[in-house]
Amino acid sequence: PSGAHAVSNRFAFEAIPVSTADEVIVPAGYKADVMVRWGDPLWSDAPEFDHATRGTAASQERAFGDNTDGQDIFLHDDHVLLVVNNEYTNRDILWGNNPDAKPASDDDIAKGMMAHGVTIVEIASTDGKWGIVKDSPYNRRVTPQTEMSITGPAAGHDFMKTAADPSGTTCKGTWNNCGNGVTPWGTYLACEENFNGYFSAEDENHEVNADLKRYGVSSKDWGYGWAKIDDRFDVSKNPNEPNRAGFVVEIDPTDPTSTPRKLTALGRFKHENAEVIVNNDGRVVVYMGDDERGEFLYRFVSEGVYAAGVDTNALLEQGTLSVAKFNDDGTGEWLDLTPESTGMASQAEISIHTRQAGSAVGATTMDRPEWVAANPNAPEVYCCLTNNKNRGVKPNAGGDDTSANGPNPRDKNNYGQIVRWRPDGGDHAAAGFGWDLYVLAGNPTVHQDAYAGSENVNADNMFNSPDGLKFDSNGLLWIQTDGNYGNEGDFAGQGNNQMLAGDPVTGEIRRFLVGPNECEVTGLSWSPDRRTMFVGIQHPGEDGNSHWPEGGDSVPRSAIIAITREDGGLVG
Ligand code: FEO
Ligand code: CA
Ligand code: CA
Ligand code: CA
Repeated sequence: PSGAHAVSNRFAFEAIPVSTADEVIVPAGYKADVMVRWGDPLWSDAPEFDHATRGTAASQERAFGDNTDGQDIFLHDDHVLLVVNNEYTNRDILWGNNPDAKPASDDDIAKGMMAHGVTIVEIASTDGKWGIVKDSPYNRRVTPQTEMSITGPAAGHDFMKTAADPSGTTCKGTWNNCGNGVTPWGTYLACEENFNGYFSAEDENHEVNADLKRYGVSSKDWGYGWAKIDDRFDVSKNPNEPNRAGFVVEIDPTDPTSTPRKLTALGRFKHENAEVIVNNDGRVVVYMGDDERGEFLYRFVSEGVYAAGVDTNALLEQGTLSVAKFNDDGTGEWLDLTPESTGMASQAEISIHTRQAGSAVGATTMDRPEWVAANPNAPEVYCCLTNNKNRGVKPNAGGDDTSANGPNPRDKNNYGQIVRWRPDGGDHAAAGFGWDLYVLAGNPTVHQDAYAGSENVNADNMFNSPDGLKFDSNGLLWIQTDGNYGNEGDFAGQGNNQMLAGDPVTGEIRRFLVGPNECEVTGLSWSPDRRTMFVGIQHPGEDGNSHWPEGGDSVPRSAIIAITREDGGLVG
């Protein structure tokens, strides 16, 4: 961007170098404490995490889930509630006490299942240190077994009906919850991403239909084994069950008895996060990425407006779902997904086969859209396009061309980029927008061509694979990475995964944090007084080379850290 060399005065920290240490590094004047880890019990009747056995299904169901991802903080009647997605579990670690790190019993499989979902836990600061409040009446685990309701156009459609639910209006559970969102009325949105990897068939030669194939469902799961303990996950016995996953799920964190709602109006795909804003006219707008190579970027605009006394449920049940088309000249448009535009039979079908609808209208294939974040100070929105080794190499799963295009300019894109768009007239419901690239990540010490990155990337701040993305209330853009931590070849000098802050006006980017070995940094929120920043550290040691956070010979555990300033000042 122009002005990339301008020096920003927005950063309240000095940039830190890369690191390959098995610890969290933050700038001088800041400190990072571990607040809550995978397996920490939420109630006093549950045991502490057992490093020898890694717990049981029963202990895991009463404990903080694994692999922390999207998160947010809710202040409710003076209680501070942390809501966090537990995306998945590292099977080599979960079952690392067994021969070949494979499940030795049905309980081992169920333990893995219970490590998924969402954790809601009250937190409090005592003597300057944040921790969880055991036995708080707000504490709750939402798991793949929690009862949910199905809302929106797809509710009751034939494709949603199963033997257990002939009405197609209720289902059990949520899993692989990646990024998240927050509504203006104080609910949490958990986004279902790689839901397909949990389905399998007893007969490995079973052929799934083309619509399920578009979503990567097959006769083999990714090793979780859930079909062995629950027929729901056997796609030969329950072929409609995968149609009931891949949605955004709305949860009321203030009522532990509430029934989570699957929001089919927001479409079915591998949801990353859901960035919610109230448009100038009061309509609720949700921006969402589909994180798969060559898939699309979506927008939902509510039919009704958000105002005192309205039925907020209806706002996320009725509206217009659109998909992005980026033109090479820096303009773009939102293409509405309707029966007329897609040739599909109904809005219900569009809500279930959303990828196919996007292909039908000619949406732009993207380099894996991860988190979307809206600038609180300007009508502009950013999205991490994390990387795409298939760009220019092969089509997406729907057969759509993936030749390089405007916002996805590089073939075999190892590094990723962040695209930014500005809706026409500052109206987030407008059909048109203008776009540019905020940053093209790269490695200027290895490459001199486009793979060196944009002008705001240099030897001191380089990174690869931007993923998590969130603005703080001051308008600084926080960028979290989930990339290659090999620190050699194309990635030489980039170290472990990290978190950086970007100035949206000058383009300057500074490194703020580096994570422990083999982790990704994902999920970000703030205490109500903004004096603590909470950051998620996911899958430390996924390849067997970390003992973070406890050190020694301990089992590595995903965790949320609390970052404060030594002078007690605001963070971000
Ligand atoms: Fe779960 Fe696309 O990251
Ligand atoms: Ca992610
Ligand atoms: Ca990622
Ligand atoms: Ca991840």
